[in-house]
Amino acid sequence: MIKSVSNTNFDSIAPIYDGLSWLVFGNVLQRAQTEHISLIPPNSKVLLIGGGSGWLLEQLLRYRPEAEITYLEVSEKMLHLTQRRIRQKFPEPFKIDFRLGDENSLQPDETFDVIITPFLLDLFPDERLQQLMNRLCASLRPQGRWLFSDFWPAQTPPPAWQQLLLKSMYTFFGLVSHVKAPRLPDFNDHFARQPLRLEASATFYGGLVQARAYRKV
Ligand SMILES: C[S@@+](CC[C@H](N)C(=O)[O-])C[C@H]1O[C@@H](n2cnc3c(N)ncnc32)[C@H](O)[C@@H]1O
Repeated sequence: MIKSVSNTNFDSIAPIYDGLSWLVFGNVLQRAQTEHISLIPPNSKVLLIGGGSGWLLEQLLRYRPEAEITYLEVSEKMLHLTQRRIRQKFPEPFKIDFRLGDENSLQPDETFDVIITPFLLDLFPDERLQQLMNRLCASLRPQGRWLFSDFWPAQTPPPAWQQLLLKSMYTFFGLVSHVKAPRLPDFNDHFARQPLRLEASATFYGGLVQARAYRKV
């Protein structure tokens, strides 16, 4: 049994999560997740945390089959979907450590060249998010890269349609997946607290979604 301080639960929605995302956003969220995949150096040790049903892991394996990957998911159902997907699509074995749990499952001395957080960080209230980001940053090697994709309005204040869409999503995932955050965190503020410098960024969906690549200084 995994004790997660986040207490989110994507098990019930796991079988339909990808379909739902396609229905609302088409392939936008997937494009954002792969925007900076080319910045992953060969032979990297990669932590992919909150990867859901494994679509991004599949792309990662196609791009960097030699990478050593830790796939950390707190939802048992999502993890099973991922394992099934990879077994079905790739006959040869890869260096993947499938791990059920959250960031507390990382070993104190475990470090990575690349950390990927695809639509994960928007789930947490400020204090919890800061703990999570501190923990992840501590396990990122010097000069390591953090590939981030998430809802992060490029415009301040966000246009009314974005505010409405975000409010609906937080209400929905609050009810269905017990997401505790009431609204999007101030990502600018959270990233500014970490020893990271912005390397590349891109916006999607009329500026509602951003993909960013940070480098540890
Ligand atoms: C919003 S979903 C995004 C899934 C996938 N990245 C995508 O975009 O399709 C967030 C995922 O993060 C997982 N998750 C939430 N908190 C986590 C944590 N602390 N550690 C690892 N996974 C977590 C959830 O189980 C869920 O699968």
